[in-house]
Amino acid sequence: MARWAERLAGIFPWPGRSTVKRPTGPESSNPMHPIEEIRVRLDADMQKLETLIADGPGAGPSEGDKALPKQFEDLKVKYTGKKGEISGLLRSMGTLAPEARPEFGKLVNELRDYADARFSALQAKIQEVEIAGSLSGSSLDATLPGYRVPAGSLHPMTQVREEIISFFQGLGFEMALAPEVDNDWYNFEALNIPPDHPSRDMHDTFYVDDKVVLRTHTSNVQVHYMETHRDQPIRIIAPGFVYRVDNDATHSPMFQQVECLVVDKDISFANLKGTLFLWAKHMFGTETTMRFRPSYFPFTEPSAEMDVSCYFCKGSGTLDGAGGAPGQPCRTCKTTGWIEIGGCGSVDPNVFGKVGWDPEKFSGFAFGFGIDRITMLKYGIPDISHLTRNDNRFLKQF
Ligand code: DAH
Repeated sequence: MARWAERLAGIFPWPGRSTVKRPTGPESSNPMHPIEEIRVRLDADMQKLETLIADGPGAGPSEGDKALPKQFEDLKVKYTGKKGEISGLLRSMGTLAPEARPEFGKLVNELRDYADARFSALQAKIQEVEIAGSLSGSSLDATLPGYRVPAGSLHPMTQVREEIISFFQGLGFEMALAPEVDNDWYNFEALNIPPDHPSRDMHDTFYVDDKVVLRTHTSNVQVHYMETHRDQPIRIIAPGFVYRVDNDATHSPMFQQVECLVVDKDISFANLKGTLFLWAKHMFGTETTMRFRPSYFPFTEPSAEMDVSCYFCKGSGTLDGAGGAPGQPCRTCKTTGWIEIGGCGSVDPNVFGKVGWDPEKFSGFAFGFGIDRITMLKYGIPDISHLTRNDNRFLKQF
């Protein structure tokens, strides 16, 4: 501070000389320069607040502790506020001799920096006191472990859906979506489903009006996609909800399917088998076997139903090897050793014709599987109703 005093001496005389006396020291009879005077007062005011803080919070927040923030704010405004004392010094600079102004300006800025630094240090201390005060006044023990917030997890069907999609994306498939409320054309007509087909019956389909239905399968995505991606190779995987007038122990009016469509030149049924073989081993384990049963769908020719060996009895039909009594029948696969996953086949040339593609040039394969069945098989869930019962004891195992 000796240098401070020297520099202050350089900008005397000060027009409005202060009458405040130095508290101690040989020159105590000299009037202080206003910059120094403000600093001395600031130090003294700060000191008072710091003493209050040093007394610390009592058993609860004392009246003094509560008043601290307000006192602090007042002090800050008094010194560093827009109309505060430090700004006042700058405003009066015009009354100084021009050659004294630069040095004076520097000193005032130093004082401002000094004040700012002290105020932020003090503010941090006040916050500590506030926190300590609020803790000591309550019965809260900050050292106790907190309440465990139960973390949720994705529903097993969601996990399975995501796993299927990411597997096919890995093979270069794109994800596609189609409307759940759709025109008759997309759900039936363009898929070669004739008007007298039983799936069109009022007992099977939710009609919004004559021509608009809640889609009964995800196969509508095939029509949408072929209409909008004409004459180009297609590889899509399309998950979604579907609706049927069905409600019993093993069927629900709303369920999820995943649809696949591949179209290109020279796509054969062998490509379908190869792709599904890869997928089944990935999904259910390398020991899984699969079979194709001849079937019928209006939009594929030939058509097949794909089955995967039963997870529970490992395809044997009985639970002997799986912890059951000798010869105990496997209920999951109804002793057949197989679980049906869904339908598949080569795209019927009529479908290409309906959407305006040349069936002579293009061929393709498609499948549509139920996500609930795949989930049951993957996790060994014996009863489909577990998936929709929302019982946490079940759900938290995933
Ligand atoms: N859409 C059929 C259903 O819901 C399933 C299906 C069968 C989809 C064969 C296909 C397929 O893509 O090729 O029962």
